[in-house]
Amino acid sequence: MAAPATRKPGVFAVRDVQDLTTETHESGHELKRSVTGLQLTSMGVGAIIGTGIFVVIGQGAGLAGPGVILSFVLAAIACTFSALSYAELASSIPVSGSAYTYSYATMGELVAWIIGWDLILEYGVSVAAVAVGWGGNVNAFLEAAFGVALPDAISKSPEDGGVFNLPAVFIVLAIMLLLVRGARESAGANLVMVAVKLVVLTFFIVVSLANFKSGNLQPFLPHGFHSVTAAAAIIFFAYIGFDAVSTGSEEARNPAKDLPFAVIGSLLICTLFYILTAVGALGIATPEQMKDSDAPLATALDEGAGLSWAAWILALGALIAITSVVLVIFYGQTRIFFAMARDGLLPERMAQVHPRFGTPAKLTVGLGVLIAILAALVPLGAIVELVNIGTLFAFVLVNIGVIILRRTRPDMPRPYRVPLSPVFPLIGVAFAVYLMSDLPLATWIRFVIWLAIGLAIYALYGYRHSRLRRDLGPAPVEATDTTEQS
Ligand code: ALA
Repeated sequence: MAAPATRKPGVFAVRDVQDLTTETHESGHELKRSVTGLQLTSMGVGAIIGTGIFVVIGQGAGLAGPGVILSFVLAAIACTFSALSYAELASSIPVSGSAYTYSYATMGELVAWIIGWDLILEYGVSVAAVAVGWGGNVNAFLEAAFGVALPDAISKSPEDGGVFNLPAVFIVLAIMLLLVRGARESAGANLVMVAVKLVVLTFFIVVSLANFKSGNLQPFLPHGFHSVTAAAAIIFFAYIGFDAVSTGSEEARNPAKDLPFAVIGSLLICTLFYILTAVGALGIATPEQMKDSDAPLATALDEGAGLSWAAWILALGALIAITSVVLVIFYGQTRIFFAMARDGLLPERMAQVHPRFGTPAKLTVGLGVLIAILAALVPLGAIVELVNIGTLFAFVLVNIGVIILRRTRPDMPRPYRVPLSPVFPLIGVAFAVYLMSDLPLATWIRFVIWLAIGLAIYALYGYRHSRLRRDLGPAPVEATDTTEQS
């Protein structure tokens, strides 16, 4: 246990790792430990395979041509190093909150708040974006299957010429109800959707490889090698989600074994499927056919290979795939807010666990309503880039967190250890910064504004209400004082 601090904790005070794991048992805010390793892996795959491979691949193909296949490889390598760091921290600190909690234990409250605020981009905002993509697919499916579509007024945002996006609101509220009911049931539903999406991608890979025209891959790099990295910064979106596994660590039955298995396993499975899918897609269609489509894989089958029956099946599969992304990412956001509320950085009442369902029901409903409003009114557009920059920034801090914690708590039990630390975490940082540097200036400006709003909220609320700063929680330890921590 940490020694009591002798002075009032500053904004760089850190939570003690041991306290973090024991306190949840005593706080009355503990979640049920009901989720297995296979369910966690399926949560990872559920969070990963969605809009990125079914929609964003078109944008990537427009940027890099067939070279987008390499962008998938590059983004996967970039994610791997950060995934190892996530696995180490998730197995050592198996409580809710993911990168937010890890930064609280390593870099102190201010950085933790910044990262918690930043994660709203990766989780909350991206749920709204993914839900809008789901809405678009509903219309694509209705048109393909029955020749009808919802009117623009109730299926598009005001900026796109509608009033509000009813299908997007519907999917957000439906998933919200599922999450209020409980993690076990939600994970079960997710398992079914994950199975469906893997079958649909397998179907795509088999059909596209059977119709493969190798001439389509020429020229392989029409816009030069730099376009491969520029596309990788966008394609990165397709891999976001493996870290969502770590937000459920407090509900894992056996965190030491299951978390590293799930984080790394889900990333590997998706990488394999993505590369085969990208090879298949660019082998049957041209980048021009894919780049402006709302459903580029379906378009590739339809216009590229002339198989409209296959396109119809794929569109339906995409709908199911995107549903599970909404489920897992939404789940992750509730658990991050849960941890922040428990620490007093957000109103503590939000962390109450529902007596019957054992889930943070109030928080889930509040969040669902906010995300639904966003999904009703906001178009997809550049939001992918904003989500990417926020996520890459979180990766940077998680990798640095591994290095700091190895120094400040060398004896802490680490069921999983990143090999060759600090080299691997530093490579993770370098890859994340490299991809961030390839995102447009406008994205950087929006990101900085978002962080500034977060800092203002911390100054006005979190700074005053933090349990750590009010000395209500376990005794804090200043980040620079490492002598008595282990
Ligand atoms: N990786 C997730 C998707 O592609 C966010 O939908």
